[in-house]
Amino acid sequence: MKKLVSLILALALLCGACLAFTSCGAKGKTLDEVKAAGELVVATSPDFEPFEFLEGTTVVGIEVDIMKLVCEELGVNLKLEQIAFDSVLPGVQAGNFDCGMSGITVTEERSKNVLFTDVYYIAAQAIVVKADSDIASKADLEGKKVSAQLGTTADSFCRDEGYTVESYEHNNDAKSALTTGLVDAWVVDNLTAKQMCEGDSSVKILSETMTEEPYAFAFAFGSETLVEAINEILEDLIADGTIEEIFANYGESYIAP
Ligand code: ARG
Repeated sequence: MKKLVSLILALALLCGACLAFTSCGAKGKTLDEVKAAGELVVATSPDFEPFEFLEGTTVVGIEVDIMKLVCEELGVNLKLEQIAFDSVLPGVQAGNFDCGMSGITVTEERSKNVLFTDVYYIAAQAIVVKADSDIASKADLEGKKVSAQLGTTADSFCRDEGYTVESYEHNNDAKSALTTGLVDAWVVDNLTAKQMCEGDSSVKILSETMTEEPYAFAFAFGSETLVEAINEILEDLIADGTIEEIFANYGESYIAP
């Protein structure tokens, strides 16, 4: 009897230890599970032109076009779920979505919590200021107030740099904070800065960028087979020029990582 109790205890301990390792408590769907489900559920924050944004009520953009082709190759339907950016990665990690697609920068910290595909593009962080601003470089941001989208790399980078940061759930509000004079600068990824400021003479984008932002798609641990399959598809889409063509459709030139 004593032996049985210790055996049960040992098993319970083993299970606990196992769950502590992300891969054992994995929430991600395998390739076969996604194929059986017939759809890939993708969480996205569509306030990030040209990667994902709203045209009326439809989510469009570079990443939407890429993900459509990925799903076509996998033989499943693409199901987009719109949520705020700071909920994308936690939602993927918790297994509420199969994939996170939001111009997501791969970072060491994030890689502890989710599984990333290969990087398909390298962006940079840009500084946007009022057209008549004296701020001309990153160095001028010292002691200044900046806006950024909540939970983004811009948000954490600016805090680490010691700037006073106003974080907004949506990128449009982060931009408005600048145009209405609540902050001195808006920090956001470069292509989004460019597209969201196009035709707006009240703001300018500084030529100096601050960080490298390697983009990839995020999955929960457990999705290793799925990520492997998607990496192969992405590799082909890059090699045959399809991704370059998609970028061109949104007025941008593509440089492979
Ligand atoms: N690349 C940045 C990050 O990963 C910003 C992404 C914001 N994406 C969005 N869809 N609003 O933190």
